[in-house]
Amino acid sequence: MIPDEKLHAQLPHTLRQLDLPGLGDLYRGKVRDNYSRGDRIVMITTDRVSAFDHVLGTIPFKGEVLSRLTAFWFEKVKDIAPTHLVDVPDPSVMVVKKAKALPVEIVIRGYITGSLWRDYQAGKAGAYGISWPAGLRKDQAFEKAIITPSTKAEYGKHDEPISEQEILAQELVTPEIWREATAVAHRLFARGQEWARSRGLILVDTKYEMGIAEGKLVVIDEIHTPDSSRYWVADGYQDRFAKGVDQEMLDKENIRQWLIKEHGFSGHGKPPPLTDEVRVMLARKYIEVFERLTGRTFASEVGSVAERIQRNLAAKGYA
Ligand SMILES: Nc1ncnc2c1ncn2[C@@H]1O[C@H](COP(=O)(O)OP(=O)(O)O)[C@@H](O)[C@H]1O
Ligand SMILES: [Mg+2]
Repeated sequence: MIPDEKLHAQLPHTLRQLDLPGLGDLYRGKVRDNYSRGDRIVMITTDRVSAFDHVLGTIPFKGEVLSRLTAFWFEKVKDIAPTHLVDVPDPSVMVVKKAKALPVEIVIRGYITGSLWRDYQAGKAGAYGISWPAGLRKDQAFEKAIITPSTKAEYGKHDEPISEQEILAQELVTPEIWREATAVAHRLFARGQEWARSRGLILVDTKYEMGIAEGKLVVIDEIHTPDSSRYWVADGYQDRFAKGVDQEMLDKENIRQWLIKEHGFSGHGKPPPLTDEVRVMLARKYIEVFERLTGRTFASEVGSVAERIQRNLAAKGYA
């Protein structure tokens, strides 16, 4: 496990953004700086963290953790579906095939928790067009994973829940592609849950983005990262569930809870500035997920991420 001193030492060197206009047209998302030219995108995963659709600041080593975990998982699932990955010129950078993204995100859940639990309790879980079983308890496992899609909002807007019926009625996705995408999502999630479990973690839920490239359905963006997924520690799950106490979380939920509990912030108004302590705390959780899932020690050096990326891109002929 990486010492806290190293995480503190990295605080001034985190990557907020990288301006490399020579790489192509920039789409700056909440987390990634995406440079696109022709049929490829150079996706730079920065250290930005967002919650409730606000960019809050940076987390030491976050971009590298997300990018390396995505590459790790793509390798693990490559027999299930093609992915957009072409090259990894730097631990925080993926060169990918440009796809026409489906206008919906495929959220798949193995447990009822978070916003779905709140909606279910309030009797408002109807937006997905699913008839939920009665009497579920917080953090309870579903018998079978459930897909709760959401719209993919434009920059600055919020994603909204949508039902399969609406997706098809509005012709956002054709029935054939929808059938294939949801089947792929179920298989990816089953693979993810199985691997996570073998490493002492529960993959609780996750979000997939898919698109069409060269006429084929491909998995794009990131997969099974602690930004796009919930991870709980498996050990003690039953006990905590029986007692009705919160699960041990190793994902972005930690920063949402900090915002809510310490600052009463849940997306409205101006978000509070992140303290160094919370930035280091989240880094520690993300690195723990990385180390558990990959079985590798996270041993990145303290130093400027921007300079390292520029060096690697130049060495590999991208910039
Ligand atoms: N292969 C791809 N082709 C086209 N778009 C992609 C591909 N992979 C990821 N994207 C898009 O690139 C963006 C990645 O940057 P990110 O910071 O995650 O943005 P966002 O704030 O929209 O989530 C996302 O909008 C994602 O949908
Ligand atoms: Mg994203």
